[in-house]
Amino acid sequence: MPPRLPLFATAARGTEDLLADELGELGVTRIRRDRGGVRFHANLSEALRVCLWTRLGMRILWPVGEGEARGADGLYAVARSVPWEDHLTPATTFAVEASLQRSEHSHSGFVALKIKDALVDRMRSRAGRRPDVDARSPDVRVVAHLAGTRLQLSLDLVGEPLNRRGYRVRQTRAPLKETLAAAVLRAARFAGDEAVLDPMCGSGTLLIEAAWMAARRAPSLDRPLAIERWPALGPAARPLLADLRAEARAVQRPVPVPLWGFDRDPEALAVARACVRAAGLAGAVELRAADATSELPLPSGASGLWVSNPPYGDRLGTGGQKGMKSFYFQLGERFEALGAFRAALLAGNPGFESAFHHRPSGRRELWNGAIPCTLLLYPAPAAKGSADPWRGTPASEPALDPAHQTPDVSPVRPEHPEVEHERQPHREARAGADARRRQGRRSGQERAEAGHAGQRQGGEVDDDAGQRRGRDQHGQDAERRGHALASAEAEPDRRHVAGEGEQPGQGRKRRGGRSKRLRQPHRGGPLAGIQGEDE
Ligand SMILES: C[S@@+](CC[C@H](N)C(=O)[O-])C[C@H]1O[C@@H](n2cnc3c(N)ncnc32)[C@H](O)[C@@H]1O
Repeated sequence: MPPRLPLFATAARGTEDLLADELGELGVTRIRRDRGGVRFHANLSEALRVCLWTRLGMRILWPVGEGEARGADGLYAVARSVPWEDHLTPATTFAVEASLQRSEHSHSGFVALKIKDALVDRMRSRAGRRPDVDARSPDVRVVAHLAGTRLQLSLDLVGEPLNRRGYRVRQTRAPLKETLAAAVLRAARFAGDEAVLDPMCGSGTLLIEAAWMAARRAPSLDRPLAIERWPALGPAARPLLADLRAEARAVQRPVPVPLWGFDRDPEALAVARACVRAAGLAGAVELRAADATSELPLPSGASGLWVSNPPYGDRLGTGGQKGMKSFYFQLGERFEALGAFRAALLAGNPGFESAFHHRPSGRRELWNGAIPCTLLLYPAPAAKGSADPWRGTPASEPALDPAHQTPDVSPVRPEHPEVEHERQPHREARAGADARRRQGRRSGQERAEAGHAGQRQGGEVDDDAGQRRGRDQHGQDAERRGHALASAEAEPDRRHVAGEGEQPGQGRKRRGGRSKRLRQPHRGGPLAGIQGEDE
C-alpha cells in the first residue's frame, strides 16, 4: 500500500459522525463523513490500527479501481483494467462480492461473475496461471459496487465484518450489533469511568462493549484480518500488526467499574453469561434475573449510566402497543426511582418517548438494521438543576471541520440503512423470511420498482407487530427516497459471491444450496452499499 491511500470505513447509518470522531482519534487524516460510512486517508500502519481499534466501523475498504461499466462488456472491461497482479498471485484464493444500485443489471450474481472472469483472464495473461475462487474463506475479498453504470472495485482489509468480535458464541432473539452498541456508548460519552446498568440486557452486548471500552481493550485484538493473508501486503502487515497487538495488550487494564445486567428471560441471561465469558469478562459483569420495572438488586447509592435498548414490541402479546406504552411508563417510573443514573435508551418504538415521560436532553436518529430508531439521552433525575451530563454530546450529523474534507476522493453516497442479516430463530422471523423468499422470486429490479424495501429485516424487532412496523416504516422511508432494497438479502447465506462455473441466474435456481448461492444486491450507494452484507 503506497503511503496514505484513500480508504472507506462503513458504519450503521446515523453513526457516521461518531465514526469520523473515532477515526480522528486513531490518527488518520482527511476524514470525510458520508452516509453509511467515512472516507479517510491512511498509510499501512494507520490502516491496521484502525482495523484493530475501531469499535464503530464494520468494514475497511480500499478502492482499487473504478469506471463506467455499461452492459456485460463494460463490467468486464473495467474489471480487466485493474492491476490485479499487484494484489494477487496465482496461488491466492479470492472471492468477488457484488451489490447493485439503480443498475441495468438485476442480478448481482451476474455482475460478480463478470468481474471474476475479468480478474481471472487478466491474471492468466499476466501471471501465466489463474487464481482459484474460495467463496468461504478467500485470501482476498473483492468488493464490487455498481451504482448506475459506475463500477467501484475495492479490497476488503478485514474479511469478516468487524462487528464479529468473537464473543457472540450464542444468540438471543434480537441482539444489538456490536458496532451499534459501541456507537450508542460513544454517543452517550461513556468514558469507562462510571458504573453501567442494563436492566434489559438480552445477550449483554451493551455491557460487553462498555466493559471493553472501560478496559481499553482493542475490539479486534484476537481476530484475524484479511490483509494478513494478502500476498502483496501481508508480509509488511504481519509484523506491524504484531507490534500493534502487543501495544494494545500493554494498554489493556482490568475493568475499573461495576457493570450490572438484568433480564427477566432466563434464556437471554444464559446467552449473556456465555457471551460475557467468551469476551473474557467473567467476574466483571454481574448478571441476574430481574424485572426492569421492579426494584433492582443494586448496591445502595449506586449511580452511573443506564444504557438499554428496550423491547420494541410486545413479544408476550400482553396488550399490543397499549401494553408497551404501559411498560415504557413503568420504566420511566423506575428511572425516576433509581435517581442517580443518567440514561441512554435506544428506542425503536415511536411511542417510547412520551410513555417514558421524562424530558430527554439529547437525541440522535439512527438505524438499527432496517429499523429507524431514536437514541434518547436523559440526565439523572437526582441531578435536576445541576449541569447537564450530556452537555457537548454530539447531536446527529454535526458538520465536519472543513479542513477534514477530502476534495479528491470520488463521492460515496449510500442511500439506504445498514441491513442486518442476523439469524432470527424465532417463528415469526422465520415466517417473515419465508414470505421474503417467496417475494425473492421476483427480480431485484422488479422489487426495487415495486418499493419492497421494507421486506428486509433488521435485527432488533422482537415481535410480530414490531416487525411489521419496522418493515412498514422502512418501506415508506425507502420509497420516499425513491429506491428500494432487495428482499432476498434478509437471509444470511445470500451473500453474493461469484463462484466457479456459475452461470448468471444460477443462484436463484439453487435455493437451499449452501455456499455459492447468489445474493441479491444492496440498493445502496457506492462502497457503503456493501456494508450490510455481514450477517
Ligand atoms: C431488545 S432486547 C435487548 C437486546 C440486547 N441489547 C442484546 O444486545 O442482546 C430486549 C430485552 O429486554 C428483555 N425484557 C423485556 N421485558 C423485560 C422486563 N420487564 N424486565 C427485564 N427484561 C425485560 C427481553 O427479555 C430482551 O432480552
